[in-house]
Amino acid sequence: MKLADLPTPSLLLDLDRVERNCAAMSERARRLGVSLRPHLKTAKSADVAWLATRGQPGGLTVSTLAEIEYFGRQGFTDLSYAVGIAAHKLEALAELQRRLGLTLTLLADHADTVAEVAQRAAQLDTPFALLIEVDCGGGRGGVAPEGPELLALAQAIRASSHLRLQGVLTHAGQSYAVPGREAIAAVAEAERAAAGLAASRLRAAGFEVPVVSVGATPTAVHAQQLAGVTEMRPGVYTLFDLDQVALGVCGLEDIAASVLASVIGHNPRSQRVLIDAGALALSKDLSANGFAEGDEVGYGLVCPMDGRAPLAGLRVAEVHQEHGFIASRSGDAEALFRLLPIGARVRILPNHVCMTAAPYPHYEVLRGGSTETIARWPKAGGWSCTDGRTA
Ligand SMILES: Cc1ncc(COP(=O)(O)O)c(C=O)c1O
Repeated sequence: MKLADLPTPSLLLDLDRVERNCAAMSERARRLGVSLRPHLKTAKSADVAWLATRGQPGGLTVSTLAEIEYFGRQGFTDLSYAVGIAAHKLEALAELQRRLGLTLTLLADHADTVAEVAQRAAQLDTPFALLIEVDCGGGRGGVAPEGPELLALAQAIRASSHLRLQGVLTHAGQSYAVPGREAIAAVAEAERAAAGLAASRLRAAGFEVPVVSVGATPTAVHAQQLAGVTEMRPGVYTLFDLDQVALGVCGLEDIAASVLASVIGHNPRSQRVLIDAGALALSKDLSANGFAEGDEVGYGLVCPMDGRAPLAGLRVAEVHQEHGFIASRSGDAEALFRLLPIGARVRILPNHVCMTAAPYPHYEVLRGGSTETIARWPKAGGWSCTDGRTA
């Protein structure tokens, strides 16, 4: 279908770029000597997952039950659910594991969680594999790699009849606060060292640790070495976004997802062009602005419909639920209105593609500078399984 005929807003996917991004990360994992277990919370698409896993021994990383069910149905059976587990989800997970023949790995970082999970797993008479989450400095989930909780958790898992210790996992979320290759490489080393320390302490205490899992897109791109690590789990790299450009992790030409929007108004009083892509279509994530030069990219950069480079000086400066406001840095409203007449179509490059892509039911897929789609790829969405159990 021609882009001119698609409904707006629509989520576009440049297949050339996705293929390039996936091939480059597979090659990086190979050179670093680790398995790639891509995080599909970003793309939420089986078609992207097949590109990301081509030739890779690792399974997938996911972040919701909906993703577990969706990817399981598409034939991806080795799934790590990389959000700390809440024990009430076990019933649904046990059912998914059975129905779809999955090998699920869950995540925990607290003794109470392990106790509750052990009890529920026994009640359900279903075995589960667990990774212990380690905090490598991001301050989100995870126990300290050098602290006593790590060994206590491993012992509690070993004491359970239905749980099996699979290894350790860490995620360097702090890599998003330090732009530039060298600073990110230092965070990657801290991430590797934390996971490695936790694994060696567990091994020294007599535990088997088959999986030592690290991963975020910035650290995966800039890690110098991953000795002692078995797998990495980047996700954003499949699509990339303006935040990754601002961090120095990729270039604008690597961004594979964009939002097609229509010009629906000219406001001479505010000197802005209105589009039909607002906060729900783009997200309210402003992450790229922290590091970008000058004022930034607002809620997204504005490209012509054929996906050429962003139009100089333009950005989405404000968003309401279904309205976006394009402003020009030059302040020349007449020139802006001439450039973007009513009914014109633009593509917006997202700040944080995980947030932007999440609400859309599918991708409209095209190649390169084409203005015609070649496929529509479905996506997972929401949190629940299709039978309604959020669990
Ligand atoms: C546990 C975990 N692993 C991997 C990732 C993927 O990292 P990124 O989003 O930088 O690609 C995330 C992202 O939030 C995560 O939470």
